[in-house]
Amino acid sequence: MSMGRSVRKAVIPAAGLGTRFLPATKAMPKEILPVVDRPAIQYVVEEAVEAGLSDLLMITGRNKRALEDHFDRAPDLERTLELKGDEARLDAVQHASGLGPIHYVRQGEPKGLGHAVLCAKQHVGDEPFAVLLGDDLIDENDQLLSTMIDVHAKTGGSVIALIEVDPSQISAYGCADVTPIAGEDYVRVNSLVEKPSVEEAPSNLAVIGRYVLHPAVFGVLEETGPGRGGEIQLTDALQTLAKGEGEGAGVYGVVFRGRRYDTGVKLSYLKAVITLASERAEFGEDLKTWMKAFLG
Ligand code: UTP
Repeated sequence: MSMGRSVRKAVIPAAGLGTRFLPATKAMPKEILPVVDRPAIQYVVEEAVEAGLSDLLMITGRNKRALEDHFDRAPDLERTLELKGDEARLDAVQHASGLGPIHYVRQGEPKGLGHAVLCAKQHVGDEPFAVLLGDDLIDENDQLLSTMIDVHAKTGGSVIALIEVDPSQISAYGCADVTPIAGEDYVRVNSLVEKPSVEEAPSNLAVIGRYVLHPAVFGVLEETGPGRGGEIQLTDALQTLAKGEGEGAGVYGVVFRGRRYDTGVKLSYLKAVITLASERAEFGEDLKTWMKAFLG
């Protein structure tokens, strides 16, 4: 039985301060940092388009220019490449602006992920939507978003993505208490807590940056006060939906076992660059040879 409406819209929050990546993020958003040869956020936009989401809304803040320019046409540059006959680079440049019209809304002040999502209310309206965090990359060979959209279609509720982490790492994430559902490959989320201490954590299941949300989340976010770190937390609103009843209530989880890279943290950013570069046909083998020599 299908309960949820189809998902067409993607919201991509990219308005955070990126303090963990200072000073690189002093004058530009962390989402624009290159992973091999593309800004991190381009992978995220490509993932949304690949999952069939045709209406893209990016939440930007200060330093938004680089984000908008990256996904816009660049007529002078395109003309120069055309005159040089450099088809490959011309294609690469045009690919980014051809990913579809992207809408932008500005979050005046970075008051938290929940507040960033609330900035999408007017654009999204009364329909389910996906949220993809601009600094969280899911390997293109692994399915996640389309599975989550299917779970929304089945349940009608909101859907979060979870990974198993080492229990000592849980305090860096939102954490979910879940119950398996017989015969299903998704779980019911009983409760959520943002960045719990190791002792408080109800599980080692960490929330990562993909969501499919029921529009009821907007009303809940409007009522959600600042939580951990003084920020309006999406996790707190989802906790309300998980505990609630009736239209829009219910939160489900998909446990993701594929590859994910957090480009907002220096060490995992470096791992992402090395992993994805080593898979590139043009220079992957050369890079691996060099790395072996480098490591001695
Ligand atoms: P993070 O907590 O990872 O981003 O938010 P941050 O606040 O930029 O990071 P640090 O802690 O200062 O290093 C997850 C996602 O939500 C967006 C971020 O841009 C990131 O993609 N976000 C966060 C907003 O859009 N607005 C906010 O107010 C907070």
